[in-house]
Amino acid sequence: MAERNPKQQANQQKSQQTAKAAPAPRIIAIANQKGGVGKTTTAINLCTALAAIGKQVLLIDLDPQGNASTGLGFPLEARPLSAFDIVTGAAEAKQAVQPTDVPQLDLLPSSMDLLGVETTLAQKPDRLYCLRTAFGTELPYRYILIDCPPSLNLLTLNAMVAAHSVLVPLQCEFFALEGLSQLLKTIKEVNDTLDTNLTIEGIVLTMFDPRNNLSAQVAADVRAHLGDMVYKTMIPRNVRVSEAPSFGKPALLYDHKCAGSQAYMHLAAELIRRERKMLDKKQNKKQNTNMNHVHNVTK
Ligand SMILES: Nc1ncnc2c1ncn2[C@@H]1O[C@H](COP(=O)(O)OP(=O)(O)OP(=O)(O)O)[C@@H](O)[C@H]1O
Ligand SMILES: [Mg+2]
Repeated sequence: MAERNPKQQANQQKSQQTAKAAPAPRIIAIANQKGGVGKTTTAINLCTALAAIGKQVLLIDLDPQGNASTGLGFPLEARPLSAFDIVTGAAEAKQAVQPTDVPQLDLLPSSMDLLGVETTLAQKPDRLYCLRTAFGTELPYRYILIDCPPSLNLLTLNAMVAAHSVLVPLQCEFFALEGLSQLLKTIKEVNDTLDTNLTIEGIVLTMFDPRNNLSAQVAADVRAHLGDMVYKTMIPRNVRVSEAPSFGKPALLYDHKCAGSQAYMHLAAELIRRERKMLDKKQNKKQNTNMNHVHNVTK
């Protein structure tokens, strides 16, 4: 076999190092200021599905209601440190995260203290960047999902500033699109005024009821308005999904065969496929730019 010259050896070493380096976590805020649309249910079950696929995942419960924490089996007394301590800088993220019953899924729990976070942070000039700063150091996750409260408040803005993208659950009901334009406007304002490049990860239709004409009509309308932004996967209304949190379990642990659990597995696979496509597109664009540069230099 031909000997490799020193430059080839150096390149091989470099590419091996790059291959070994874990990709930075993709941070996704799950947001919709409308209440009860399935944000927390999606956060818990999408995280679980991503972990089941083999990804290392962290769920940040940024809602003072703490439903994601309870739904994963963490009552108030099992949360010595919470997202409040992280946002206010009282503790480091890695001290406050806890392993869950789902292998490869950790939780940064919420606490009621988050209700007072606006007052606590009011005087801080960098109050919108607290969560981003706390997660600036390397943490061993492939995905970090943030369950936001039903409001476009300081907590949701912190989540948006820390995140790469926003995933929006929309409930299949008559006023599904109500409030969405406000959410999209907020995302645009965040990008225009802060140091962010937020994108829409996707819109997921939740609580879809195939027996209900209205549900199908709403889904068709939303797709007509928002096109490719909407995931092909829809989450059906499913009683097992709604029962699971009262047992402190994700639906996938409570009943992995139920239609809701299966839909969240499909959603996780679709999210990963989309991300790959997006990365391929970026890579191709970069290669084309490089080729154009070489062409310009050599002509
Ligand atoms: N696919 C589903 N099938 C049946 N029930 C569901 C489904 N998804 C969510 N629910 C139920 O709908 C209610 C609202 O869901 P969830 O708490 O996830 O919404 P949310 O947007 O997080 O609410 P909030 O705005 O208060 O934080 C809950 O009782 C939940 O169990
Ligand atoms: Mg919620």
